[in-house]
Amino acid sequence: MDTRGHDEEEPPKPVVLITGCSTGGIGHALARAFAEKKCRVVATSRSRSSMAELEHDQRFFLEELDVQSDESVRKVVDAVVDKYGRIDVLVNNAGVQCVGPLAEAPLSAIQNTFDTNVFGSLRMVQAVVPHMATKKKGKIVNIGSVAALASGPWSGAYTASKAALHALTDTLRLELGHFGIDVVNIVPGAIKSNIGDSAIASYNRMPEWKLFKPFEAAIRDRAYFSQKSKTTPTDEFAISTVAAVLKEKPPAWFTYGHYSTVMAIMYHLPISVRDFVLKKAMKG
Ligand SMILES: NC(=O)c1ccc[n+]([C@@H]2O[C@H](COP(=O)([O-])OP(=O)(O)OC[C@H]3O[C@@H](n4cnc5c(N)ncnc54)[C@H](OP(=O)(O)O)[C@@H]3O)[C@@H](O)[C@H]2O)c1
Repeated sequence: MDTRGHDEEEPPKPVVLITGCSTGGIGHALARAFAEKKCRVVATSRSRSSMAELEHDQRFFLEELDVQSDESVRKVVDAVVDKYGRIDVLVNNAGVQCVGPLAEAPLSAIQNTFDTNVFGSLRMVQAVVPHMATKKKGKIVNIGSVAALASGPWSGAYTASKAALHALTDTLRLELGHFGIDVVNIVPGAIKSNIGDSAIASYNRMPEWKLFKPFEAAIRDRAYFSQKSKTTPTDEFAISTVAAVLKEKPPAWFTYGHYSTVMAIMYHLPISVRDFVLKKAMKG
C-alpha cells in the first residue's frame, strides 16, 4: 500500500464524497452501497452523531459538512484531497422538503429550501470541479426528484428547487463534459427516509395560515406523501443507483422507486388532466 491507501497492483478505489448521510436517509444507504462496491466513502452530514453507525468502520471517512457554509465545504473538500489526492464521485444528496402554501409560507423557509437543495449543491460542485478537472475525470451526481415532473399543491418550494436542480444538472453535463466530468441526474420516486419527519419539524415552526387554514390536514399530509405504504426501501434504491453511477458511461438520467413511472407519464399529460389528478391526490 502507498501512503494514500492505494494497493499498488489494483486500480485505485474510487473516492466518493456524499452529503447528507444521516442514518435512515438515502445518503446513508448510498454510503453503504458505495462501500459494498469497494469505494472509499467520505460520508458527511451536519452532525457526526447522525452517522454514528458508520463510526469505526474503516471503509468510511466521516466529516461534518453543512452545504450552506462556504467554510465547511472548503474544509472538507481540502481534507479529502489531502487524504486521497482526488475526488472521483460527488453525490449531492443533502436536501430538505418544504411544505406550505406558496402564497403564505415564510420566504425564509423557501429560501432555506433553495439554499440547501440548489445553492448547496452548486457550492459543492464549484468546490469539487477544479480537482476533477485537473484529473480530467470525475462524476457529479445530483439527487433530483420526480416531484419536479408534476408540480402539485403544498410543496411548491421543494418542487421548484428540484426543478431548478434538474435544469442546473442539464447545463453542468454539457459544460463539464469538456473536462471529462460526467454529470448524472438521479431522480428518486418515493423512497423510505426521514424526509417526512424533517418536513413536519420545519412545518411546525411556521405561523398559522390565514387563507389556507381549511387545508391544514392536506398540507400536513403532503409532508408524508412519499412515506406511505408503497414506499421503496432505501437500500434497494441505493443499490440500483450505485450500479448506475459506477458504470463506465453513467446515464444522464436515472429514475427509480415508487411513482417514478407514474410521474414520468404525468409530465406528458395535458395540463388540465394533470391538474385534475394532482388535485385529487393531494386534496388541493
Ligand atoms: N425520500 C424520498 O422519497 C425522496 C424523493 C425524491 C428525492 N429525494 C431527495 O433525496 C435526498 C435525500 O433525502 P432523504 O429522503 O434521504 O431525506 P432525509 O432522510 O431527511 O435526509 C436528508 C439529509 O440531508 C441533510 N441535510 C439537510 N440540510 C443540510 C445541510 N444544510 N447540509 C448538509 N446536509 C443537510 C440531512 O441532515 P440532518 O439529518 O442534519 O437534517 C439529512 O442527512 C434529498 O435531496 C431529497 O430531496 C428524496
